[in-house]
Amino acid sequence: MPFTVAIDGPAAAGKGTISRALAQRFGFSYLDTGLLYRATGRKMLDGAQPVEAARALVPEDLDAPGLRSAEVAEAASQVAAIAEVRDALVAFQRRFARLGEGAVLDGRDIGTVICPEAEVKLFVTAAPETRARRRHAELQDGTSFEDVLADVHRRDARDMGRSDAPLRPADDAVQIDTTDLDIDAAVARAAEILNDALARG
Ligand code: CDP
Ligand code: CDP
Repeated sequence: MPFTVAIDGPAAAGKGTISRALAQRFGFSYLDTGLLYRATGRKMLDGAQPVEAARALVPEDLDAPGLRSAEVAEAASQVAAIAEVRDALVAFQRRFARLGEGAVLDGRDIGTVICPEAEVKLFVTAAPETRARRRHAELQDGTSFEDVLADVHRRDARDMGRSDAPLRPADDAVQIDTTDLDIDAAVARAAEILNDALARG
């Protein structure tokens, strides 16, 4: 049986960093599900109808340049509030979770909707100012810290407030607050939780 690790949480909390490290350490595959919404958002910015764009998405679309920009992040969170867009992306994510021996998926609704049976569920958080500081350092495209912070707040509110698959911790998720944890400490904590789950079988 494949072993699934579901990692959810708000923007720039450290989900991707932790996911990549776990995938490498445990030999699991990794899917950044935010890229599905970012690729759909990118197509909407280019004039496509979002539901049709989501239905027509192919894996190569996840490699498109520019998906990490603030503009695409905002478009991603807009299309992510459309139930038909989310529906169109479910099958790909569930298939990915079943490939190979183990898979790590990160996003907003992995533990609650996509993989409710995941063996390990983590909910990664950090204070909004901390997350905005980290994302601001990463973007380096001239966007001011204030604008990044406002974007983080706006996306958090939209992701938590939508009716379909809102961002929330699954009842059985373990929370990791990375506000005062550097990357090594955050990864160590996540790896410990994973090791415990693997040891329990
Ligand atoms: O995937 P998510 O948007 O949740 O966040 P990320 O891309 O993993 O992390 C956002 C930024 O925060 C990256 O530049 C990480 O290197 C940094 N980070 C950090 O400084 N300390 C942590 N404990 C986790 C991430
Ligand atoms: O890296 P960051 O956490 O800033 O964003 P992301 O994970 O790439 O996700 C971009 C947007 O896609 C989020 O603000 C959500 O609105 C949406 N998303 C979602 O609704 N469900 C997911 N499983 C993943 C992303």
